Amino acid sequence: MRGLLLVVASALFPVALLFAQEVWDQAAESEVNTELNRPELIKRGRYLAIVGDCQACHTRVGGTPFAGGRAMPIPLLGTLYSSNITPDINTGIGTWTLEEFDRALRKGIGKDGRNLYPAMPYESYAKISDGDIQALYAYFLFGVAPVHDTPPPNKIKRALSARWPLKIWNRLFVPSEPFERDPRQSDTWNRGAYLVQALAHCGACHTSRGLAFQLKAYDETEKGFLGGGPVLDGWEAYNITPDPDSGIGAWSAEQLTQYLKTGHVNRLAQAGGPMGEAIQFSLSRMSDSDVAAMVTYLRSIPPVKGKARIPRQQRGTPATEVVILRGTPLGEERNPKLKPDGARLYLGLCASCHGVDGTGSKDGYYPSLVHNSTVGAEDDHNLRQAILQGVRRTVDGEEIMMPGFAGALNQDQLKQLMTYLRGQFAVPENKVEKPAASAR
Ligand code: HEC
Ligand code: HEC
Ligand code: HEC
Repeated sequence: MRGLLLVVASALFPVALLFAQEVWDQAAESEVNTELNRPELIKRGRYLAIVGDCQACHTRVGGTPFAGGRAMPIPLLGTLYSSNITPDINTGIGTWTLEEFDRALRKGIGKDGRNLYPAMPYESYAKISDGDIQALYAYFLFGVAPVHDTPPPNKIKRALSARWPLKIWNRLFVPSEPFERDPRQSDTWNRGAYLVQALAHCGACHTSRGLAFQLKAYDETEKGFLGGGPVLDGWEAYNITPDPDSGIGAWSAEQLTQYLKTGHVNRLAQAGGPMGEAIQFSLSRMSDSDVAAMVTYLRSIPPVKGKARIPRQQRGTPATEVVILRGTPLGEERNPKLKPDGARLYLGLCASCHGVDGTGSKDGYYPSLVHNSTVGAEDDHNLRQAILQGVRRTVDGEEIMMPGFAGALNQDQLKQLMTYLRGQFAVPENKVEKPAASAR
């Protein structure tokens, strides 16, 4: 069979060449695009691709940037593989016109007219400006080397695989106009608003979603914007509005800037999981002025009030000798459900880096788990993921690494450990301080 195919194929080869030439000519005809092959535009596009974090999704683990194939689990649907967006003629976007590229980014429609799943964050990209779309196009078509690589086929449940309902979804939910500047606000504010809402798509993770999985708010004028997102892939993106208790209203501008640039502020928060990736591939590589603009905007949006009454990063007290020696969190001795295993697991697995008392290393490289937003959060999703998967991030050539403990803990042990961590390093100070004083 294969032999026969070869024969047919070689017989058709000259025809194929002609055909290929034809495709070339057509592509050349339908694109005014080579006009955009300009060094300064490509350079701008390269920077915008960093801001848009295209690499994080469009690269498989250990693969060439932008060649796609990264598995993305989609709730209810199955697994989707990101597309090859290098300019390869056959497997990438090498024949795409500017209009087609624009339609994919801002309308969620692929070259062949099929609707893209919103795992590609076109709900946010819909607000990208015309000029930035051009620059991105110039970069991807003329500034990226083509890679011949076909992503694996999607594994989507057949009953749910029809893409046409997305047409309706798009019409209902996807913003139809690019970002519009607010003349009452400064240039810095407007730049920050544009980045946060559109290219840097913070809302895609940090804003809650409705029944149809649509974003509930697209900008600061709508209720709930950046007020905390759903759990995606095990991780929760917190409320990052200026509410002092549920959000990050208690953070200074410097702290927020440092977090966005490095993913680490000791005694406050570290970035693991998807946020770690956003910092590594995107935020840490953005210009100082763009980060400053985002900080300005983020600190100005309406606060979203949640259930927290004490900021997550202000919870907890260091463990005292009594806790350490007896292996039982203070004040919990009377809880019959608690076994002392949690504290012992902590001493065995975590204390070498995070300190016996939980305050981390002196230089802060190993962060304090007291006053730590992940330990102190209302829900324990991110704490669980951090323990299971660890943390890995490279910023400015420096690797930050915590090993994952998925293989070392069974479910019961994980629960004991988390109960200890949350009991000791996260309960509001006043609840722990009293028994601590009486125990001495
Ligand atoms: C959060 C993950 C994510 C990010 C960030 C992302 N993409 Fe995508 N993108 C996807 C996925 C997944 C698909 C495939 C969707 C589908 O098949 O329905 C896709 C599809 C595409 C397509 C359509 C390709 C085709 O062959 O149909 C283009 C073009 C594209 N992305 C460009 C970009 C650019 C440019 C950026 C950065 C500005 C970007 N994407 C950022 C996940 C992402
Ligand atoms: C792909 C999803 C995703 C995107 C996009 C994203 N974040 Fe996050 N973000 C998260 C997750 C998940 C966490 C929690 C990380 C952890 O606990 O280690 C987080 C944490 C944070 C925190 C720390 C909050 C705290 O109390 O610890 C800040 C601040 C933040 N993000 C700001 C932003 C900004 C600004 C943007 C856009 C430029 C953004 N994020 C884009 C998922 C995302
Ligand atoms: C080999 C040293 C090491 C060990 C052992 C270790 N950690 Fe970590 N931990 C780190 C480093 C490094 C970070 C990341 C610091 C950063 O992001 O800048 C971290 C971060 C964390 C965070 C914050 C994660 C986030 O996403 O916000 C938590 C929570 C945490 N560790 C808990 C634990 C627990 C619980 C254990 C024991 C099961 C443990 N660690 C064991 C080094 C370690």
